[in-house]
Amino acid sequence: MQRTRITLHTDFRIGRVDPRVFGGFLEHMGRAVYEGVYDPNSAHADADGCRTDVLDALSRLRMTAMRYPGGNFASGYHWQDGVGPPERRPRVRELAWQSIETNRFGTEEFIRLCRKMDWTPMMTVNLGTGSPEEARDWVEYCNCPAGTRYADLRAASGATEPHGVALWCLGNEMDGKWQLGHVPADQYAIRAQQAAKMMKDADSSIELVACGTCAVQLPTYMEWDRTVLEHVGDLADYISLHRYVGNPGGDTPDYLAVTAAIDRQIEEMDAVCRYVQARKRSKKRAYLCFDEWNVWYKNRDMDGEGKVAPHLIEEVYNLEDALVVAGFLHSFVRHADVLKIANLAQIVNVIAPLITRGDELLVQSIFYPLAMFAQRRDGEALRLAVDGPRYEGSGNGEVDYVDASAILDGDRLHLFLTNRSLTESAPVALGIADRAVAACEAAEILTGPEPKAANSFAEPELIRARAFSAVATEDGAVRCELPPLSFAALTIRLAPADALSGARS
Ligand code: AHR
Repeated sequence: MQRTRITLHTDFRIGRVDPRVFGGFLEHMGRAVYEGVYDPNSAHADADGCRTDVLDALSRLRMTAMRYPGGNFASGYHWQDGVGPPERRPRVRELAWQSIETNRFGTEEFIRLCRKMDWTPMMTVNLGTGSPEEARDWVEYCNCPAGTRYADLRAASGATEPHGVALWCLGNEMDGKWQLGHVPADQYAIRAQQAAKMMKDADSSIELVACGTCAVQLPTYMEWDRTVLEHVGDLADYISLHRYVGNPGGDTPDYLAVTAAIDRQIEEMDAVCRYVQARKRSKKRAYLCFDEWNVWYKNRDMDGEGKVAPHLIEEVYNLEDALVVAGFLHSFVRHADVLKIANLAQIVNVIAPLITRGDELLVQSIFYPLAMFAQRRDGEALRLAVDGPRYEGSGNGEVDYVDASAILDGDRLHLFLTNRSLTESAPVALGIADRAVAACEAAEILTGPEPKAANSFAEPELIRARAFSAVATEDGAVRCELPPLSFAALTIRLAPADALSGARS
C-alpha cells in the first residue's frame, strides 16, 4: 500500500479531551452487577463483596464517569428498593429483562464502588414508570445534607455526608418503543423538564443529560432531539447519543468504515444543539454525551426468564470488533470540542471487555484499544491532515485506509492509528510542522491472525496488545508500518519548543 502521510501542528487544537469520555456503564442486567462487579461468594471478593480480579482489570481502563443503574432497567427501577438495610430490601420482578432483582446491590454499594475505583457516579433516573418527584427525591437522598426525609435515609445507612453525585441522566432511550413508559417526544420533553427543574432545585450544582434519539435509524432522529432540547431548554447540559454497531453481513471493509458514520452522527447531533441554541438566542448550548456505545449484534439473549443474574447478551468480541471500538475512540477524540462524556456499554459480562466464569476472568479483544487509549487520554486533541490511500465502504462511504487521531499532552504526543486493510501493511509517516521529535517513548500494537479471531478461556491471549518496536524517528518524522488489520498507539516525546527553530537557523 502507498504511504499515508499525516501532518500536524501542535497549535492546531480541537479541544481538551474531557476525561469523562472514557466512562463506562453498569446496568442491573444479566451478570453485570451480580457475578460481575459484585459477587460475595467469589474467592476474589473483598470486604464489600466486590470482585477484586474484575476491579483490577477495570482499573487498567482508567474509567471515569460510570453510568448506573441502566439502561432499560432504569425505566422500571424504584431507587428506594435499593437502599436501607440489605436484608430488608425487596426481591422484585424486574420489568425490562424479566429477571429477578434482589436489590442486594443499590445506591450505597454503587457509590462505595465508585469511590474504590475513582469513578464519577452518573445516575439515570426512572422517567418510564417513575415520576419526576421520585427522581428529585433521589437527588435529595444522594446530595443534600442530613436533616430532611431522604437525606436522613442516607444518613441512617451510615453515610452522614452527602455523596455529591454530579451527573444525572433524565431517563433512558425514551424514544424506543421497547422502553418502559415510552412516549412521543413532546410528552417526554414535558416529563424531563419537570424532573430537571425539581432535581436542580434539590441541588443546583448537578448536570443533566436529556435523552436524545437512541438509534439513528428511528424516523424521529433529529426531530426528537430538537423537540426535547427546545422544551427542556437551559436545564439540559447534555443530550445523549447511543450507538451499537455490528457486522451481521460479514462485510469487514464496510464494518471498519463505520467510523465515518459515527463522525456523522456526532456532527449531526452537534448541529441540532447549535440550531436550538441559535433559535433560542441562548448563551447556553447543550453538549454531547454518548452514554451508550459499543459493538453488539451477535448475542441477542434478552429474556431473563425469572432468574437472578441470567446470562444475557454475553457478546464474544473478535479482532475486527476491537478495531471498531478503536474507531469509536478515534471519533470521540476528533470531536473533543463537542463530545464531553461517553460511556462504554458495558463493563463486565454484558456486552463487555471482561467475562467471568466462576472465579475465572477472561479479557476480551476490545479491552486492548480501550486500555491503549486510556493510558494516553490526557491532553488536547489535535487536527490531523491525513493524505493516503482510501477505499469505499459499501454502506458507510469513502474512508482512509489509515484511521487516525492524536492527543497532545505537554511535550508528549499520543498518536493512534488503525490500518483497516485486510491484506496489506500500511506505511505511515508522521510530520510535525512546528516541533522536532526527540524519541518514541512507548508504542503498542494490537493485531491478530484473522478478523474473526477471538480470545476464549481455552486461548485467552490470542488477541492482545504487544510492544510495537518498528517505530523509527528520523529526520524530524516518525515512521512505522502497520500490519493488516491492526491498531497502534504511540507516545512520542517532542524536543523542546525552540529546538526546531534552533536547528533551522
Ligand atoms: O446496554 C444494553 C441495553 O441497550 C440498554 O439497557 C439499553 O439502554 C440499550 O437499548
